[in-house]
Amino acid sequence: MSSIAVCPGSFDPITYGHLDIISRGAKVFDKLYITVLNNSTKKPMFSVEERIELIREVTKDIPNVEVDSFQGLLMDYAKSVKANAILRGLRAVSDFEYEMQITSMNRVLDESIETFFIMTNNQYSFLSSSIVKEVAKYNADISELVPKPVELALQKKNDL
Ligand code: PNS
Repeated sequence: MSSIAVCPGSFDPITYGHLDIISRGAKVFDKLYITVLNNSTKKPMFSVEERIELIREVTKDIPNVEVDSFQGLLMDYAKSVKANAILRGLRAVSDFEYEMQITSMNRVLDESIETFFIMTNNQYSFLSSSIVKEVAKYNADISELVPKPVELALQKKNDL
């Protein structure tokens, strides 16, 4: 049986923290779907298409990764691609409560799909898309935080 996982998120935009989880996850699972989903508590800066394009660009060298989007419940998407796992990154204790809540909810929706966590590399434990957008607004150097195409896309947004 092959292992198929979904790595869901807002990815608004993708950071080196996400990329760390994705590249390590791709070594564990046979196939990894990186799926842009709607987080109803967030107002995105990038459209779904823009986010997908950036993820595709920065993951193009990882052969078993597929980038996708879905309007609906994560567990419905996971079932539609026959995934047997969900992969999430965990940065700090502060992530725990939120992750426990969504993981428990997802288990109620479908207990056959297991959620796995990878601890983010310490180097990125402070990193989030929100904090990158915040500093990018003031033209800070973000080259250590996001890949080049994301840096350029953020510059473009700020120039608008
Ligand atoms: O990167 P994020 O914003 O922490 O990702 C959260 C996301 C998008 C994975 C979560 O909000 C989600 O799964 N949204 C889809 C709707 C859903 O399935 N909701 C039920 C679980 S909270």
